[in-house]
Amino acid sequence: MATVMITGGTGLVGSALTKLLVNNGYNVVILSRNPLKTAQEHEYEGRIGAFRSSGNVYYSRWDIEKKYIDPAALANTDHIIHLAGASVAEKRWTASRKKEILESRTRSSELLVKALREHPHKVRDLISASAIGWYGPDKGTPFVETDPAAPGFLGDTCLAWENSISPVEEQGIRLVKLRMGIVLSHKGGALKEFRKPMRTGVAAIMGAGKQVVSWIHIEDLCRLFLYAMEEPAMRGVYNAVAPVPVSNRELTITLSEHITKGRAIPMNVPEFVLKTMLGEMSVEVLKSATVSSEKVQQAGFEFFYPTIQKAIRDLY
Ligand SMILES: NC(=O)c1ccc[n+]([C@@H]2O[C@H](COP(=O)([O-])OP(=O)(O)OC[C@H]3O[C@@H](n4cnc5c(N)ncnc54)[C@H](OP(=O)(O)O)[C@@H]3O)[C@@H](O)[C@H]2O)c1
Repeated sequence: MATVMITGGTGLVGSALTKLLVNNGYNVVILSRNPLKTAQEHEYEGRIGAFRSSGNVYYSRWDIEKKYIDPAALANTDHIIHLAGASVAEKRWTASRKKEILESRTRSSELLVKALREHPHKVRDLISASAIGWYGPDKGTPFVETDPAAPGFLGDTCLAWENSISPVEEQGIRLVKLRMGIVLSHKGGALKEFRKPMRTGVAAIMGAGKQVVSWIHIEDLCRLFLYAMEEPAMRGVYNAVAPVPVSNRELTITLSEHITKGRAIPMNVPEFVLKTMLGEMSVEVLKSATVSSEKVQQAGFEFFYPTIQKAIRDLY
């Protein structure tokens, strides 16, 4: 049975992906900064370099500051999925938070590169998260993978993130980078934030609401990680977004129709309010980014949820 190591596997995407991988017959080792929080009562298994949690799921500790990964866990791994990184949306972008957002990605990538160089392993491929924060704002035609990184904090971060993991290719490891759109899940992430005002009867549209949101259903995203892992012809950068992006207004109204049966009153949150509330992050909320899914479809991937209506209907 092949083993997949997932860095940052305790998060929104990693938890859903773990289930999918286990259902597809893989062992999963989740690499976490604090595995004992989740696998406290379980015994360390030296052969796997991890604590068994349940079934085929294990937790292994890494320490990015101290540059430590359990060599036994690495030796036992066939595939790596690299998701780790401090949340971009959770806190205001102060100088220290920006540093943490950037370095949690670049330093964790550098540690993987170093560990793979220094320890014996049989890793065949590495699928790394990246984000559509690489692009934008809209330029008239959908963004494709060869477009350059946009100037600014997110563009710079994505560029550094992608560059930091690239050296694994020098070891003959097949590398795929998925530039993920806004992940739609009923368990958290962006939709949780969209839903909050609906509890008070308001469907909050960001600014004018015309800005395009390139999104992906969490199930399609996890299927895409698995597809990229199992498809040897995939290599390089792919956008991980649904084929039909939507405006912020359409996303909000569609969600409201399903959650409140359309009872929530649509209300535009003016740009200056967003700027006050979110600071620099408001630029991203108001930015229009139409991103193409063509390359991944050309690679043979089929979306279960190409439209927002299908996605929201499934999630709620
Ligand atoms: N969700 C989205 O809409 C979206 C969109 C585009 C890109 N992405 C990217 O895709 C990846 C996975 O997304 P997600 O939504 O699953 O993220 P998430 O729920 O925030 O989980 C990320 C995981 O990374 C680890 N982590 C957090 N802070 C860290 C730090 N300072 N240093 C090292 N590790 C840290 C955590 O694991 P431990 O605490 O167990 O170590 C956490 O569970 C992230 O890199 C994210 O930026 C997400």
